[in-house]
Amino acid sequence: MLGNFTYVNPTKLYFGPEAIENLSDELGHYGDKVLLTYGGGSIKKNGIYDAVIAELEKAGKTVIEVPGVMSNPTVEKLYEGCQIAKSNDVDFILAVGGGSTIDYAKGVSVSAWCEEDPWEKYYVRMEEVDNRIIPVGAVLTMVGTGSEMNGGSVITNHTQHLKIGRVFGDNVMPKFAILNPEYTFTVPKRQMVSGIYDIFNHICEQYFSGDDDNSSDYIAEGLMKSVIKSSRDAVADPRNYEARSNLMWDATWALNTLIAMGKSEDWEVHMIGQAVGAFTDAPHGLTLSAVSLPYYRHIAPYGLPKFVRFAKEVWGIVPSDGESDEEIAEAGLQAMESWMKEIGVTLNLKELGATPDMLEGIADGTFLLDSGYKKLTREEVIEILKESYEYGL
Ligand code: NZQ
Ligand code: ZN
Repeated sequence: MLGNFTYVNPTKLYFGPEAIENLSDELGHYGDKVLLTYGGGSIKKNGIYDAVIAELEKAGKTVIEVPGVMSNPTVEKLYEGCQIAKSNDVDFILAVGGGSTIDYAKGVSVSAWCEEDPWEKYYVRMEEVDNRIIPVGAVLTMVGTGSEMNGGSVITNHTQHLKIGRVFGDNVMPKFAILNPEYTFTVPKRQMVSGIYDIFNHICEQYFSGDDDNSSDYIAEGLMKSVIKSSRDAVADPRNYEARSNLMWDATWALNTLIAMGKSEDWEVHMIGQAVGAFTDAPHGLTLSAVSLPYYRHIAPYGLPKFVRFAKEVWGIVPSDGESDEEIAEAGLQAMESWMKEIGVTLNLKELGATPDMLEGIADGTFLLDSGYKKLTREEVIEILKESYEYGL
């Protein structure tokens, strides 16, 4: 139900092939020293680095670089960025990359001036930020997480086998984001489909909760249909601008709190997926696709009317005479499974490198939430992990 709520999103978006031309003006609002952070080098091969540097030079900035932000950024990398940001007293952090780099920039933003261990304070204990925050901006190069327009920051601690996502407030969200769909043309197929499934699952996590006549659900259905159509087009032709631009826009709106309005939200697939990620370091979206089908089949009986609606509205299932709600819901999940196979996402844990001895630890690392249709027990998580383990093999 759309009860009382406040909706604010402070991130300014520049969209389209010429969006980068706004970067120097935006940087003009901040001080001289910019920490430029990026991943393992894709931006140097595809020309995005040069375009960004040209804008930084135009704005007359002093640039300090932190390259090498890995997928699923680690706590050790966070500490390194904090040390560099603090010792150079940077005025701004510019993240150029996908969710990992942008999440990382937010982590450094709140942690650089933190006097305690930021991992413990901000990710484990989830305390409010009470120290100086360095403003962040983003140039997005890979689509999926929505990090460009939200407060999310996910950091992995391999020693502790924990991958924790924290949602920071408006003051940590990117001040602006540059969204050029052409920048995503060079994303490898495995990463592209990982991002596509991540978008789809963000929508599911919000859609499969609460059961009233909520506008958020109608918006969610539209976004899901756009993702399904555009994903097929992008897989057929990675340089299809229309498909890539739709996916970029879908991803941003899938996780910038718009479709969460009036919803309790589930997020259990993400909790299991993050625990899988802490053990396997697999691409985030694939950790979700690997556990989704057993999870949704497990909870469908507890939210049956919504799964029937999902089948009809999103997958176009037309029930035949006498078909039960359970059968209609299953037909929807089968259509989803066919689409997942068609675009080529991973459907089991084994292909992500998980081994049977990890399953107990993954269950221990899974936070159990009670905002979806069914609060899982640890035993149910293990059951889902076992079903996911060799699914489809
Ligand atoms: O590191 P480089 O060389 O740049 O290569 C990257 C990386 O290997 C490559 N890539 C990115 N743009 C490219 C490109 N390759 C060629 N051309 C380009 N234009 O893609 C690989 C994956 O990038 P990454 O940033 O790791 O992927 P993604 O955007 O999926 O981010 C994943 C991280 O975001 C977190 C995940 O848990 C994970 O840690 N999430 C963040 C969320 C948020 N902020 O709200 C929510 C999500 O649910 C998610 O948990
Ligand atoms: Zn996600």
